[in-house]
Amino acid sequence: MGLAAALMAQLPDAKVKRDAPFQPIPFNHKLHVSQGLKCAECHPMPEPGDFATYPKAATCMACHISIKTDSPHIQKLAGIAKEGKKVQWTPVYRIPDWVSFNHKKHMGVEGVTCEGCHGPVATRTELFREKDLSMDACMQCHRQNNGPNGCLVCHDQR
Ligand code: HEC
Ligand code: HEC
Ligand code: HEC
Ligand code: HEC
Ligand code: HEC
Repeated sequence: MGLAAALMAQLPDAKVKRDAPFQPIPFNHKLHVSQGLKCAECHPMPEPGDFATYPKAATCMACHISIKTDSPHIQKLAGIAKEGKKVQWTPVYRIPDWVSFNHKKHMGVEGVTCEGCHGPVATRTELFREKDLSMDACMQCHRQNNGPNGCLVCHDQR
């Protein structure tokens, strides 16, 4: 992949700087990615690939059964895992549910990476929405990468 292709295959930076939303358990991507964990281990994309999912509390407990068990955050996590419940993470990136978007199809495009649409996640201690999710932003990348820009590509006929 050329540098030019990589630079064009991304969403522009957000116009407005947003703070990181409150998370029920403070989660640090930088720390966890530096443990060698891959994005796909925590964010699998089950068929048809519309969504990148969140990890199960049990996935976290594979390590936290023994790591930092004295932390109140880990005790909260352990309680949620024990009850078989999910952590209620606050969404960072969302588009309206009447707009079509499929993660898996985008990951097949040359030059497209997680970082292109979500910023340098592996260096972030907390996530905030740092990329622009407007219609113009989607259409700009489609224009630059031979993506389709007909209205019905992203919007069902209503
Ligand atoms: C990194 C550049 C890039 C960005 C950013 C991007 N797209 Fe795409 N998208 C593409 C390309 C290229 C294709 C064509 C893929 C193909 O033909 O295999 C595509 C295809 C699609 C399709 C048709 C395939 C499908 O999934 O059914 C939809 C719908 C779509 N994009 C929606 C969006 C929306 C909504 C956004 C903004 C939230 C967006 N895209 C942002 C590059 C991008
Ligand atoms: C150990 C598990 C783990 C790993 C590894 C991990 N993540 Fe996450 N990710 C999470 C958790 C938990 C959240 C929810 C809390 C938050 O937003 O920080 C999250 C949230 C996110 C979000 C925001 C989701 C939303 O609601 O909008 C994005 C984007 C993301 N991760 C991308 C990545 C990328 C890219 C990588 C690889 C560089 C990665 N993650 C690696 C666990 C992980
Ligand atoms: C591969 C092992 C591993 C996995 C899987 C893992 N963690 Fe961690 N986590 C660590 C390590 C190592 C630390 C740093 C421990 C230290 O500071 O000594 C840590 C630290 C933390 C801390 C900080 C605790 C504190 O109070 O200092 C939180 C919160 C946390 N992890 C949450 C999670 C969540 C939520 C998940 C699942 C999405 C997860 N971890 C998955 C290894 C892991
Ligand atoms: C073409 C842009 C694009 C790429 C590439 C991309 N994402 Fe996303 N991501 C989005 C959009 C748009 C949303 C909001 C989707 C929604 O609201 O339905 C999102 C949402 C998410 C979420 C929240 C759950 C969900 O699916 O709504 C996670 C987690 C996430 N992305 C992780 C990743 C990871 C990990 C990668 C790389 C493997 C990645 N994303 C690649 C655009 C992208
Ligand atoms: C590549 C995907 C994509 C294409 C193509 C696209 N849209 Fe959109 N559209 C979006 C997204 C994403 C949003 C939601 C933006 C937001 O939440 O701010 C949106 C929002 C809208 C809205 C609501 C605006 C508002 O202010 O809430 C209208 C109306 C609309 N689009 C019409 C169109 C028309 C007409 C076309 C064809 C010329 C089109 N769209 C093509 C992705 C797309």
